[in-house]
Formats: sequence, structure tokens, C-alpha cells
Amino acid sequence: MSIYRQRRSLKPLDMDPNREVPRETLLSLLEDAHWAPTHGLTQPWRFHVFQAPESRAALADQLQAIYDEIIPAEARDEAKREKLGKVLRHAPLVIALAAKVEPGGKIPEWEEIAATSCAAQNLMLSAHEQGIGSYWSTPPVTCSAEFGQWLGLDETHRVLGLLYLGYLPEGAKEPRSTRAPLETRVVWHGEA
Ligand SMILES: Cc1cc2nc3c(=O)[nH]c(=O)nc-3n(C[C@H](O)[C@H](O)[C@H](O)COP(=O)(O)O)c2cc1C
Repeated sequence: MSIYRQRRSLKPLDMDPNREVPRETLLSLLEDAHWAPTHGLTQPWRFHVFQAPESRAALADQLQAIYDEIIPAEARDEAKREKLGKVLRHAPLVIALAAKVEPGGKIPEWEEIAATSCAAQNLMLSAHEQGIGSYWSTPPVTCSAEFGQWLGLDETHRVLGLLYLGYLPEGAKEPRSTRAPLETRVVWHGEA
């Protein structure tokens, strides 16, 4: 079966917290991501890497602080806030994903976000090829302007959540997923 069909999202808490992704492997994943298609060759993807335990702890603290700042009291969910802190400390590698956009520019914003999503898929498929699981997670705080600012990004960037990367623990069950029948998503115009 092709890697496109084999790749599954691996929840961060199901990753082995003690097995690091080697730097050389990480660089090869980023390089594969960097070869995604891009209109006008703008290469809008930006990857902010958090691998060292201290940097992931700082990221967790910051995202919880942003949660406290931007989520209104009536929408607060203490369990969600706690889980965010826990998963960021557990998963061995976290990449905050952002797209550089040019408001009013030649390439529309949606195309830069689409190109960055292509890069994310390259990265996740490349990780799968290397036996590394991945998970794209987009709770609102991870896509907030406040988070972008903390990353040092100005208003011409859109933060698009977090990519978690890590290995499945030895002997653990592979994650599974399903899809609706393909014909529900395809419309054929004319005869072949
Ligand atoms: C842009 C994007 C954002 C996602 N955000 C979340 C998320 O916030 N929470 C979550 O549980 N899964 C998220 N996912 C992962 C999906 O849940 C997952 O891809 C889906 O369940 C299908 O499983 P599979 O990837 O194993 O095929 C996201 C996926 C994409 C492409």
C-alpha cells in the first residue's frame, strides 16, 4: 500500500516520550517539506521547532497563558487547558507551523496557506517513511495572533497550529482511520 494511504495521525500522548527524533532526520523532514509546490516560489512556510524539553515546557506555559488571555470565561475548559500543557511536555518534537502572507499582494492569502499545508503534508509523509508518527493539531490558541507574536512573527503571518512528531512505542497498536467511499467525493464530467 502507498505511503499516502498508510500514514495515520498518531496522538501526541501515544508517542514514545523517551525516543528523540535525531537532528539529521528532522532536517531531512524539513527539507522534504521545503520542496512543496508554491505559487510564485514564495515558499511561505515557516517552521518553529521545539525539541528540547525546556523549549517545549516554555511553549506549554506560553500557550496556557494565551489560553487564559483570549478564551472568555464562559468558554473556558480546564481539562483542555491542562491537556495542552501535558501533550507539549510529552511529545518529543513539536513544530509550530506558520504561513507568510502578503495582504493585497500578488499571491492570495489562501494560496499561501494552501502551499504551507502542502509542506505540512510533505513533512508528515516524509516522517511516516522514516517510521515517525505525526499529528497536526489546531486548537484556537495555536492559531491565534497572540501566539504568532510570541513566536516573533508580525501581522503578515498566519499561525496554523502545531505538528507533533514522535515514534510509536515498541509493541503499541498502530493508529487506524477511515474514509467515506471515494465516489462520494468525485464527480466525473463526461465519458472517458
Ligand atoms: C489542517 C488540519 C488540522 C487538524 N487539527 C486537528 C485538531 O485540532 N485536533 C485533532 O484531533 N485532529 C486534528 N487534525 C487531524 C485529524 O483529526 C486527522 O487527520 C483525521 O482524524 C484523520 O485521521 P488520519 O490523519 O489518521 O487519516 C487536523 C488535520 C488537519 C489536516
